[in-house]
Amino acid sequence: MSLYDSIVRPILFRLPAETAHEFALRSLSVTLGNESVRELVAQRFQSELFGKLHRFGLEFRNPIGLAAGFDKNGTAAQALSALGFGFIEVGTVTSEPQPGNPRPRIFRLPRDRALINRLGFNNCGAVQVAENVKRGRPDCVLGVNIGKSRRVAIEDAIPDYLATFDAVYEVADYIGVNVSSPNTPNLRELQRADLLSELLNALQERNLVLANRFSLAAPRPLLLKIAPDLNEAEIESIVELALKNDVAGIIATNTTISRDGLQTPREKIDSCGEGGLSGAPLRDRSNQVIALIYRLTGGSLPIVGVGGVFTAEDAWEQIGAGASLIQLYTGFIYEGPSVARRINEGLAAILKRNDFSSLDEAIGCRADRVKDEPQRSQRLAQRNQRTPP
Ligand SMILES: Cc1cc2nc3c(=O)[nH]c(=O)nc-3n(C[C@H](O)[C@H](O)[C@H](O)COP(=O)(O)O)c2cc1C
Repeated sequence: MSLYDSIVRPILFRLPAETAHEFALRSLSVTLGNESVRELVAQRFQSELFGKLHRFGLEFRNPIGLAAGFDKNGTAAQALSALGFGFIEVGTVTSEPQPGNPRPRIFRLPRDRALINRLGFNNCGAVQVAENVKRGRPDCVLGVNIGKSRRVAIEDAIPDYLATFDAVYEVADYIGVNVSSPNTPNLRELQRADLLSELLNALQERNLVLANRFSLAAPRPLLLKIAPDLNEAEIESIVELALKNDVAGIIATNTTISRDGLQTPREKIDSCGEGGLSGAPLRDRSNQVIALIYRLTGGSLPIVGVGGVFTAEDAWEQIGAGASLIQLYTGFIYEGPSVARRINEGLAAILKRNDFSSLDEAIGCRADRVKDEPQRSQRLAQRNQRTPP
C-alpha cells in the first residue's frame, strides 16, 4: 500500500472535497514550484516502447495527460508536469473571471470510485490564466480548454468563445473546445449540428488570422470535447462536422448526467444533487464513445480518451478502443500523485507483453469489439427527444 493510500488520501478525504482539492493544488504548486525541488523529484516518463508520439503536429513525451478541470487557472501546471504527465490541459477558462456555482459543489462517491461536480466553470478569466501559464510553463504539452461564460446567452456564445480564444492563443499548444459540461446551463446545446458548425467555423477562421499574426508554421490544433450522453446519430453528426471543420481531435468524454449502475445508496446520490459524474462508472461509456468515433473515422481523427482511467489496464482498454492519448482526473484523486508514472510504466509493460513495437500500432486494435449497449442507445434516444443534449 502506498503512502498516499495509507495516509494522505484518508486525511484529504476527511476534508470537504473542494477544500482538499485547493489544499492539494496549493501544496503541489508551492513544493514543486521551486525548480530545485522539482528537478529532484521529477518523474518525467518517456519510454522507447511507446515510439515517437506525434499527434496533430505536436510531440508528446508519453500518452498520459491531466484532464481539464483540475488546474482551472493554470497556477500549478508546471508542478503537475513534474509528476509524469505527458500533457496538461488547464481550464475550463472563460472570457471573464466567474465564481461558479454555490458550494458545496464537488462530492465523493468512494464506493463507486467516482465524483459528482457542478463547479460551473469557476476560473480567474482568460487573460489571467494566460499570465499564469506564461509565468509557470509546464515542461510538457500544454492544452487550454475554453468554455462559454455563464452570463452569456447561447446565441451570443461565438463572440464569447472568440474572446477567450484570443486571450489564450499564444500560450496554448492546443485548444480544447468545451461544449459538453453539464454545469453551465444550455452549454450542451452547442453540440447541435447547426450551432456547432457555426462555432467551429468561427474559431477556425480566427485560428488562421492568429496563426498569421504570431507567425506560426500552422494554426493551433483545435480539439472538441464531447459528452458521453449523446446517442450514436448525434456522435456521427459531430464527427462529420469535426472532419469538415479541420478539428484536430475529439476529447471523449466529459462527465455524465446519468446515475445508472451506482453502488452508492440512492439517498446519498440524491443528496448530492445535479452535476456531472466522473470516475469508474463512466469508463464503459467512454470506451464505447471512443470506439464508435474510431470506427466512424477509420482511425483518421485522433481521439483523446478520458473517463474512468485509474490503471494501466484502463488506459490500455481506451487505446484498444481507439484513443491515441489518454487523460484522467478522478483517477488522480483516488490514486494519488504517482498515478501518471504507474500508468505509463504499466502501459509500457503491456505493450511489451503483447509484442507491439509501438503504441501507435495498438491504437484501435479492439475497436470492433467495443459495442454500445442497445438498451442504453434506446434510453438516450428517448431522453434526447424530450430535452436537447
Ligand atoms: C471536479 C471536476 C471538475 C471538472 N472540470 C472540468 C472543466 O472545467 N472542463 C472540462 O472540460 N472538464 C472538466 N471535468 C471533466 C474531466 O476533465 C473529465 O472529462 C471527466 O472527469 C472524466 O474523466 P475522469 O473519469 O478521469 O475524471 C471536471 C471533472 C471533475 C471531476
